[in-house]
Amino acid sequence: MVRNDGGYVVSQADEENGGVGSMYPGAGMSMGELLRTWRRRALLTQEQLAERAGLNVRTVRRLENDGLLRPRTTSVLLLAKALDLDGAERAALNAVARDRPADHAAHRPAGHAADARPWTVPRQLPADVAVPGIREREAAFVASRTTQAVVFVTGMAGTGKTVLAVHAAHRLAPHFPDGQLFVDLHGHAQATAPVDPGDALARVLRTLGVPAEHIPWHLDDRAALYRSVLADRRLLIVLDDAADEHQLHPLLPATPGCRVIVTSRHRLTCPGDARVLSLDTLPLTEAVALFARTAGCALDATSGGDPAVTSACAPETPPDVLAEIVRRCGLLPLAIRLAAARLQAHPSWNARHLLDRLTTDRLAELAAGHQSVTGALNRSYERLPPDQQRAYRLLGAAPHSSFTLGTAAVLLNTTPARASRLLDHLVHAHLLQEPAPGRYRLHDLVHAHASTLRPPHGARPAVRVRCRTASLT
Ligand SMILES: Nc1ncnc2c1ncn2[C@@H]1O[C@H](COP(=O)(O)OP(=O)(O)OP(=O)(O)O)[C@@H](O)[C@H]1O
Ligand SMILES: [Mg+2]
Repeated sequence: MVRNDGGYVVSQADEENGGVGSMYPGAGMSMGELLRTWRRRALLTQEQLAERAGLNVRTVRRLENDGLLRPRTTSVLLLAKALDLDGAERAALNAVARDRPADHAAHRPAGHAADARPWTVPRQLPADVAVPGIREREAAFVASRTTQAVVFVTGMAGTGKTVLAVHAAHRLAPHFPDGQLFVDLHGHAQATAPVDPGDALARVLRTLGVPAEHIPWHLDDRAALYRSVLADRRLLIVLDDAADEHQLHPLLPATPGCRVIVTSRHRLTCPGDARVLSLDTLPLTEAVALFARTAGCALDATSGGDPAVTSACAPETPPDVLAEIVRRCGLLPLAIRLAAARLQAHPSWNARHLLDRLTTDRLAELAAGHQSVTGALNRSYERLPPDQQRAYRLLGAAPHSSFTLGTAAVLLNTTPARASRLLDHLVHAHLLQEPAPGRYRLHDLVHAHASTLRPPHGARPAVRVRCRTASLT
């Protein structure tokens, strides 16, 4: 009548009809697992199933937790009806309800584990590479059990958003028994377009045990199914490198049992009461510690937090050289790691030599393997619409990295109102900082990057003239 097929039971009638029409998970499952699987397939919460079956919700919960060893036959019949089970499914449910594992096991292929589950609990977090002592306060905030269900980590390229999110997620993982999902949305990936939200949902749904043929086509239906599947699970979800709200919102669960950590270079809006953490560059002491740790140097334990450093790789290195190196890196974690990697890759260099090189052409220096500061900033720049790209290039052609709105308007050759709108977009993309209302600043490395881009055709001389007009030189 039934046989197991890779963890699913196929009825003979279905098999004759092509086999996939009404596959259902079954072999080796307990009563509770079967009920949970079929209830989720029917998109019902425990309360809804109880109501539909005319049972007490506590009974449904106990059955799903395998807390009732010999359930009443009438309860099983009512549940089968409420779940709209077909003949083979009812037979399987009756078999486990009557505690006849032998009948059930007869349908398992040889070697199939008796405790086979309908899905593997996902444990998708990448390795935790956070260096101890760096961003500890921020990690404590993101990993706090009392923080809101959605924490949104934002900041410029390379500030350590992903490293922080993954580190905090590892800390939180034990509190989420239904697993941890890590979804790279490729908002700013190299040579890869941002992930389509429908594709992301389909992948996540498959991971959560929904058979491919049960995944609807429409984005809204996928999002609704996703929310239903998550409704009574406790999952931790990291949505990394979100491109925009259109991509992000369908992936946000609606129930409090799940925690979400979102990272993005953009200041996106989240529905509900998401907490936002804006990651800035590192404080000097942490920046020196990160460099020292990753370049293979040891921090002087007696320095009491000063950037006083004894270097294991070059003991004669004065602390001020290390401090100057990380300043040349703009205190940006990505740049610091790349500078450290350069030093490590060249045993004949010392820290002073690295500093000289960073003084000559730091953007060229801040590259190692497939990573570079220029590449990371290019990916932010390339995602801008043409008018913002133009504004970014013009700002890069100015000699100073700090300016007022009035100066920017002169520089961009436009009205203050339009300049303000353009600058807002650059602030939103974390390519520009606004330390005070009407005052703007380009991060050192961003200014260096923008200045390497050719200003709009023939604009460089005009920019110089406009800079003089605005007393920028
Ligand atoms: N807490 C940390 N401990 C150790 N290294 C770190 C830390 N934070 C950042 N880094 C280093 O900086 C690099 C960039 O960090 P990360 O990829 O998290 O930045 P990001 O803000 O997510 O960048 P993007 O905007 O490109 O996604 C990492 O590869 C890592 O080498
Ligand atoms: Mg990232």
